Amino acid sequence: MILVAQVSDTHFDLGARNAERVERVMAFLADLRRKPDAILVTGDITDSGKAEQYAEARVALAADIPVYPIPGNHDDRANFRTALLGEPAATTPINHAHRIGELTVALLDSSIPGEAGGALAEETYDWLHGVLADAPADGPILLAMHHPPVHLHSPIIDGITLADPDRLAALVAGDERILGVLTGHAHSAATTTFGGRPLLVAPSTASVLGGEWELELPGHVMDYAPDPAVALHVIDEKGGLTTHFRPVSMGGYLGVQPG
Ligand SMILES: [Fe+2]
Ligand SMILES: [Fe+2]
Repeated sequence: MILVAQVSDTHFDLGARNAERVERVMAFLADLRRKPDAILVTGDITDSGKAEQYAEARVALAADIPVYPIPGNHDDRANFRTALLGEPAATTPINHAHRIGELTVALLDSSIPGEAGGALAEETYDWLHGVLADAPADGPILLAMHHPPVHLHSPIIDGITLADPDRLAALVAGDERILGVLTGHAHSAATTTFGGRPLLVAPSTASVLGGEWELELPGHVMDYAPDPAVALHVIDEKGGLTTHFRPVSMGGYLGVQPG
């Protein structure tokens, strides 16, 4: 089996709280008996895209497991490249793909510089077509990006989802190798379907955004009390995809118990 962890919406802001929560999640993942094969970080790495916030993230997200981050609407592509990835500054989409055993993970930059909503640029579609063409003919594929391409009955977020979702849905529906689509952005663990496949939204490590049933719209509930949580995606030998959402306690964790 292949185990992929997904951390999302870390919102590094130079404050101790958000950083400590990510450090706790990363320590939890590093201590697992069966460590993840990779850790995806699906956007809003920083709260406001500052270079110093990426420097903070770079330290907290360092691991002996491969860590693959992509931007969200709170990120800045140039600072993301220079201060987090150690690459030359550029403002083109930050797309990258990785092979994890038989699994191909395509991480798509759905951010639009200066905007809260998301979209996949034409060059991102061109790149994705190339990744799909190069992927093993019968190997499983996961797509990951920040913005959900669906409404989640989530205040605020439903107004800033991925534009033109039908184009991506047709691509997903037309490629049987794609097991599911992973996103962040909603600050809530949520699942639905998209293009006939699971659409899995990882929780934020920083906060929980309540659903529209929690109050009269307009308005929203942002809850900072719950512990941080991480999504764990298991891809089995038959191409099955199972996802667990695992809160990680900030205190009181006793570790593995005998018996
Ligand atoms: Fe976020
Ligand atoms: Fe976001």
